[in-house]
Amino acid sequence: MDRELPEGLFGAGVVGAPMAGGPSRPPLAEAVSASGGLGFLAGGYKAPDALAREVDELSATGLAFGVNLFVPADEPVDREAVLAYRERLRPLAERLGVELPEPRWADDDAYPAKLAHLLERRPAVVSFTFALPPAGDVASLRRAGVFVLQTVTSPDEARAAEELGVDGVVAQHAAAGGHFGAFLPAPAFAGPLPELVAAVRAAVGIPVLAAGGIGTAEAARAVRAAGAGAVQLGTAFLRTPEAGTNPVQRAALADPSFERTAQTRAFSGKTARGLENSFMREYADAPAGYPTVHYLTAPLRAAAVAAGDAQGTNLWAGTAWKEAREEPAADVVARFAV
Ligand SMILES: Cc1cc2nc3c(=O)[nH]c(=O)nc-3n(C[C@H](O)[C@H](O)[C@H](O)COP(=O)(O)O)c2cc1C
Repeated sequence: MDRELPEGLFGAGVVGAPMAGGPSRPPLAEAVSASGGLGFLAGGYKAPDALAREVDELSATGLAFGVNLFVPADEPVDREAVLAYRERLRPLAERLGVELPEPRWADDDAYPAKLAHLLERRPAVVSFTFALPPAGDVASLRRAGVFVLQTVTSPDEARAAEELGVDGVVAQHAAAGGHFGAFLPAPAFAGPLPELVAAVRAAVGIPVLAAGGIGTAEAARAVRAAGAGAVQLGTAFLRTPEAGTNPVQRAALADPSFERTAQTRAFSGKTARGLENSFMREYADAPAGYPTVHYLTAPLRAAAVAAGDAQGTNLWAGTAWKEAREEPAADVVARFAV
C-alpha cells in the first residue's frame, strides 16, 4: 500500500515552496506554517551561517517548517561556450558600469556545511533539488527524525529517489517558476501536472507532493485527485507582504505588459522559468553551465534591480503568475487548503 504524508505536518495540504534568491525568508515561512501550511526556508545561494541563523530564528517560533538545499550536480561545463557567453555579455556590463567577474567553475562547496547545520538543528522537513544527495546524507537526516523530500520531474527520477531512501517526492512540472529540478537527461514530462502526479504516484510507493503552475483552488483539487498529498506553491506567494521578493519583480508580476513566461538558461546556465523580458530574448541561446553562468550574470542582475529595470534581471514565475495576488500569506494558504 502507498504510504501517506505524516498526519499534521502537511495538515492543510499546502506547502510554501522554498524560493532562493530573496523571496523565502523567515517571516514568510512563519506565516505559512502558522496558518496551517508548511513553510520553507531556502538554503540555495546562502552562506551556511546565514542559513543556520534563519533556521534558529524560525525554530524559536516552535512551528514546524522545511529547509531546502541545492545539491551540487557537478555537470560538465563547456568552458569555451561559457567564456564566449561572457564576451557577449561584456558590452552590456560596460553599459551598466559593472565588471564581469572571472568565471567561477566550482559548484556550491558550502553544501556539506549547510547539511551539518541541518543535522544539528533538525527541522521537520528537508528537501533537495538539482541532483540526488549522497545516500548517507538522506540516512543521517532520517535517523535524526527529519522527513526527507526530493524534487523530481519524471517517474524515472521518482524511482531513483525512492531507491535512495527519501520519505517523499515533490513532482515538479515544467510550468513551475524558478529552476527546473530535473537531474536525469530526458525531455520534460509532456502531459499536464495531474498526469505527472498520477504517473509518479504509479511509479513509487512513497508520498507525492505536486508543484508547478498551480494558480487556483481548482488546479489544486485536480492534482489532489490525481494522488498528490499536498501542493507546493511558489509563485502564489511571491506578492505576499511576508515574502522577500524584490520590488522590481513584485512590480513586474503585476504589470500587464508582461505577456508570458518562458524557460531560459540566460541568467544561470540552468533551465528556469520566468516572465519573458528583453534579457531572455537577447540571450535565448545561452549555454548550459550552472552555477558558473549564475555568478557571471549576478552583477548585471543586481545593477538592473538597483536601477529598477525589469528587463535586465530574472523574474522567476510559473505559468499561473496572473493568479498571484497581493495578499497575506495566510490568505494564500486558506485559498488552497484542503
Ligand atoms: C522565485 C522562485 C525561486 C525558487 N527557488 C527554489 C529553490 O531555492 N529551491 C527549490 O527547490 N525550488 C525553488 N523554486 C521552485 C519551487 O520549489 C516550486 O517548484 C515552484 O515554485 C512551483 O511552481 P509555481 O511557482 O508555479 O507555484 C523556486 C521558484 C520560484 C518562483
